[in-house]
Amino acid sequence: MKTSLRNRIGSRSPFSSLESARRNALGRNRWVAILGGALALAPLASFSQDVKQGEQLYTMNCAACHQPTGTGIPAVYPPLAGAPQATGGSKRAVAIVLNGLQGPITVNGAQYNGPMQPWKAILSDDKIAAILTYVRQAWGNKGTPVTAEQVKAARAEYAQRTSPLTDADLAAIPDEDIKP
Ligand code: HEC
Repeated sequence: MKTSLRNRIGSRSPFSSLESARRNALGRNRWVAILGGALALAPLASFSQDVKQGEQLYTMNCAACHQPTGTGIPAVYPPLAGAPQATGGSKRAVAIVLNGLQGPITVNGAQYNGPMQPWKAILSDDKIAAILTYVRQAWGNKGTPVTAEQVKAARAEYAQRTSPLTDADLAAIPDEDIKP
């Protein structure tokens, strides 16, 4: 009763036009928000598709050693979850996957001394990009996505290389992303 009375007074009050202006502005803002959301979602849609494909490829090619949730196996297979070699600058991560890696290496204070095979003859630029994009954002990782063009550029850079990288090779690679 009280509310309806206030509403009736409200609709006749000198503030009612102010009120409707405010509501219009709200409506406009809502459309701006929806449009903005749609624009923000457009690149996200293709990104998450890459991530989905990357997850499948990771399961097929990497999970046997690095495990489905990237934990690795203590003293045998290093983790990819929270590992600086995987989640830091993409230059190192891409170089490792293309060329393979030969121990000893240290990951988060723990030593590993196994060989990881090179993948350059097995996985395309697209596939390496999808796998690393997935690895670099899964399990709490916060690495940047990797594009096929970036893998292509790195592949050309390492075209002559036939041996796996060593820890010293890794240290010589700047810890930065491959330029787009
Ligand atoms: C047969 C087991 C095996 C498979 C399969 C494998 N790795 Fe590895 N990976 C290793 C081992 C062992 C090391 C450590 C090598 C060393 O000691 O130098 C390693 C190291 C790494 C590293 C650097 C260290 C770290 O923990 O960040 C990255 C990145 C990596 N692997 C990514 C991948 C990705 C991506 C795939 C799938 C395309 C993959 N690996 C498949 C065994 C494997």
